[in-house]
Amino acid sequence: MAQAANHHLQDFFLSLSDLSELTQKSMDQLVSELSQFSELPSVSRNNKSGVPPKIVRQYLSSLGYRYPHQVVSFQMLKGGVSKTTSALNFGLRAAQYGARVLFIDLDQQANLSFCLGVEDENLPVWVDIVEKKVSCEQAAIQIEDGVDLIPSSLNNSVLDRVLLNSQRNFAQAVAQPLKSIKSFYDLIVIDTAPSLSVINTAVTCASAVVVLPINPDKFSLLGLVKNMQDLEELKSEFNLDFAKKILFTKFDGRETASREILSHCIEKFESSLLKSYIRTSSEIKNSIREGRHIFSTKTSAKIDYDLVTCELLGFRRDHAIDQ
Ligand SMILES: Nc1ncnc2c1ncn2[C@@H]1O[C@H](COP(=O)(O)OP(=O)(O)OP(=O)(O)O)[C@@H](O)[C@H]1O
Ligand SMILES: [Mg+2]
Repeated sequence: MAQAANHHLQDFFLSLSDLSELTQKSMDQLVSELSQFSELPSVSRNNKSGVPPKIVRQYLSSLGYRYPHQVVSFQMLKGGVSKTTSALNFGLRAAQYGARVLFIDLDQQANLSFCLGVEDENLPVWVDIVEKKVSCEQAAIQIEDGVDLIPSSLNNSVLDRVLLNSQRNFAQAVAQPLKSIKSFYDLIVIDTAPSLSVINTAVTCASAVVVLPINPDKFSLLGLVKNMQDLEELKSEFNLDFAKKILFTKFDGRETASREILSHCIEKFESSLLKSYIRTSSEIKNSIREGRHIFSTKTSAKIDYDLVTCELLGFRRDHAIDQ
């Protein structure tokens, strides 16, 4: 069991209307069906009501929804393209849909840990796990029911050197320690630093899905091409079988660059491009500044990350990019 963090996410549940939208059931039907799983399907905190993740899980499972059992990493060698934002919001929304999620922050900048309210240079991080000072279970912190985090800090900056100097197989430096706790979670969501580092190679070796966020600028596109090539090389070198999913973020339909680069991506990478994409939204920065998540608001950020989450979870297929 992970140790509990002091910080908790406010209003961490799925609203009845969001559940109704996913399942296409009327509110009355939902309330009646949910009563089988809990006498009080709605919880109320700060005068808001919704369904807690555990009940959502039981309910959706009864309807035949299945939770993937996967490691999903967010990678891109170009900085600032929304890796952390996307890892955070995908993991949180998946948890609200009932998935048991472990976040792993492998960027020494520790932005993901910060977004989840964990800022402490003394906490054990991945380098301590690699050096066998602690286990994954000991390093994991419970953020919410169903959301754990193995945080990062500047202490992880020596990770690559430790891996290169160690006699152990560096390619297994993520997959091997995870073996002992994988069965506790549905999704292991990994945020990475923008580089083709040794630790990122180990992340790729552990991943079932690599999500590559891209922005509407030329440098982002160049980074994507290089990253795709590198992943292909790793695939053949280590005999891997992961899916690459490109996630278009910071899209602004009023900008020519956004429209052109999105069209280019559809043409060049259609099979890897996620159908859902993320629009530019001030809510992303506001939510981080205010220390809350985006899913209790009705903003484009919520709508877009909800669609991305459902697409990655395989929960529904009825959305397409309209240009
Ligand atoms: N859809 C969006 N609309 C507006 N701003 C966004 C959006 N997505 C991310 N941002 C902002 O862009 C900046 C970079 O995002 P983020 O930190 O997620 O990128 P990153 O790829 O993780 O960066 P790094 O490579 O430094 O780790 C942040 O300030 C974030 O708030
Ligand atoms: Mg980041």
